[in-house]
Amino acid sequence: MKPIPLQSRLPRTYPIAAVRRETEMVQTFTFNVSLGAKPGQFVMVWIPGVDELPMSIASDNGKQLKVTFFAVGDATRVLAGMKKGDLVGLRGPFGTFYEWKKKQRLALVAGGYGAAPMYFAALEAIKDGCSLDVFIGARSKEHLLYEKELGTLPRTTLHIATDNGSKGFKGFNVANLEAILQEKKHTRTKPFIDQIFACGPERMLVSVSSLSALWKIPSQLSLERYMKCGYGLCGNCVVDPLGIRLCVDGPVVKNDVCKKIAEFGKYHRDAIGRKHSF
Ligand SMILES: Cc1cc2nc3c(=O)[nH]c(=O)nc-3n(C[C@H](O)[C@H](O)[C@H](O)COP(=O)(O)OP(=O)(O)OC[C@H]3O[C@@H](n4cnc5c(N)ncnc54)[C@H](O)[C@@H]3O)c2cc1C
Ligand code: FES
Repeated sequence: MKPIPLQSRLPRTYPIAAVRRETEMVQTFTFNVSLGAKPGQFVMVWIPGVDELPMSIASDNGKQLKVTFFAVGDATRVLAGMKKGDLVGLRGPFGTFYEWKKKQRLALVAGGYGAAPMYFAALEAIKDGCSLDVFIGARSKEHLLYEKELGTLPRTTLHIATDNGSKGFKGFNVANLEAILQEKKHTRTKPFIDQIFACGPERMLVSVSSLSALWKIPSQLSLERYMKCGYGLCGNCVVDPLGIRLCVDGPVVKNDVCKKIAEFGKYHRDAIGRKHSF
């Protein structure tokens, strides 16, 4: 592992340069800074006087960095109330990232805010000549994220799934991917997809992990655990029984490793190490 430089471990505050409302509960903040991040990595977002939270990087184009977040709890609700010009602290980038080879055919599977890092992965993979099948899913069409952005990318086919069938495939996006693998008759000798990347709720990741093993397609999954330091110091994000820290050995983990994590899809730990079932 490459050492993380001191300047990346210390928070620096930046004014929010732009606020975009994505849905009722989701917003994207833009900052006029680049942290040299790669798709799949995360930043620790410090809300002064409130809390510090891990967030996936939705893009870092060398000039601007974006995060897309759900207002789910005390801290993210305060964040959601912040306006253009307010100061937010950023530390990072931290963690592992998605990796591909030039001209590969990739399936990107996103649930919820997972669409944001998947958009970042899509932007970068396209520069390497990759072709993409992107699967985004949500409860209903009003909750789909990054639909417009993903839908206009070159060499990209966007597949939409909604639980209630209000748009696209009715059901989960992983079922949609499986239907397409069957339709295209993906086999080891006639591969339709070289790799699967996924980011979203852990139940979705469990389905991707099984599908990846069944269809013998390598996959990289983004796992979330409670994170405090973000760079391997506190031990809060360790997973059983491997003892790897997901802030440095993750969040993006290969399926082979994922399958050895006993708690994957079963439980996670909170800020003081108590177990909670999914
Ligand atoms: C690597 C990583 C990337 C993430 N990327 C995003 C993202 O791009 N957008 C987004 O909306 N959310 C993201 N999250 C989740 C986000 O960090 C939590 O939703 C946020 O911390 C909730 O804080 P809260 O105080 O508002 O809610 P709370 O009510 O405190 O918590 C709500 C939920 O968030 C989890 N949570 C709270 N604090 C943390 C923490 N420090 N680390 C991990 N989980 C926590 C809790 O376990 C709980 O399930 C990411 C988490 C991780 C680990
Ligand atoms: S968050 Fe501290 S070791 Fe991972």
